[in-house]
Amino acid sequence: MNPRPIGVFDSGLGGLTAVRQLRRLMPSENIIYFGDTARVPYGNRSRETLLQYARQDMRFLSGFDLKAVVIACGTVSTNCLEELQSESAAPVIGVVEPAVRQAAALTGSRRIGLVATRASVASGAYERAFRRLDPSLDVHALACPLFVPLVEEGRCHPGDVVIETVAREYLSPLKEAGVDTLVLGCTHYPLLSEVIGGVMGPSVSLVDVGAEAARACRDLLAERDALADRENGGARFYTSDRAVNFQRLASLFLGKEAGGAVEQVDISRYG
Ligand code: DGL
Repeated sequence: MNPRPIGVFDSGLGGLTAVRQLRRLMPSENIIYFGDTARVPYGNRSRETLLQYARQDMRFLSGFDLKAVVIACGTVSTNCLEELQSESAAPVIGVVEPAVRQAAALTGSRRIGLVATRASVASGAYERAFRRLDPSLDVHALACPLFVPLVEEGRCHPGDVVIETVAREYLSPLKEAGVDTLVLGCTHYPLLSEVIGGVMGPSVSLVDVGAEAARACRDLLAERDALADRENGGARFYTSDRAVNFQRLASLFLGKEAGGAVEQVDISRYG
């Protein structure tokens, strides 16, 4: 048993979709969340900039004596995972491998789609991971840069003409390719599950990368006999921009009020 907290970080608040899954799977755990709201979005940035930001995010979190870190951010997971793993004392779990395993287990047609940010798609990390697992899988990756700002504007509900139009336009090549499994490779996309599921049709399985990373974290801690055994865990939230902006979006991503202390951090001090 291990009462130390689990750290989670993201470019902003989207990573709270992963926190929601961690809390659902492991209600006894304490969670420390950092969202880099002053520098979001990461999704169009270069690998050099991403690495610099991600190292600062990790340095901030490393002050909490963590037993594991979940990189909820798809863009950081696809671009910086190896460096962060080799530099961290605590085990670091990214979203790519767990999602790839789940997608490969679900597909029948062996045609798999991936939607993510530009930087995630450009990294080729998902294709490499699928190839390592099973070179016969046919993977179609697609950047969907308008999805993140639309979710943050609350345009994520079925029937909203803007998101429905954008989703139909973006996803048509994946429909044409006949994928039967679609990896939602970005923190914000679980909020579009209904819209994306509506466009792709009921025969296409959607993989939520945050949920898969949460499961991988639980499995790793269980394997190491490092789960907490308190009755109810808590969460503390840190953001690099003003904490007041946190609540509005936090409830969208967490599914309820944030329910924990929120503090602003000067992330530039962790350079
Ligand atoms: N957190 C990012 C990701 O999952 C999406 C938002 C951004 O571009 O920073 O890739």
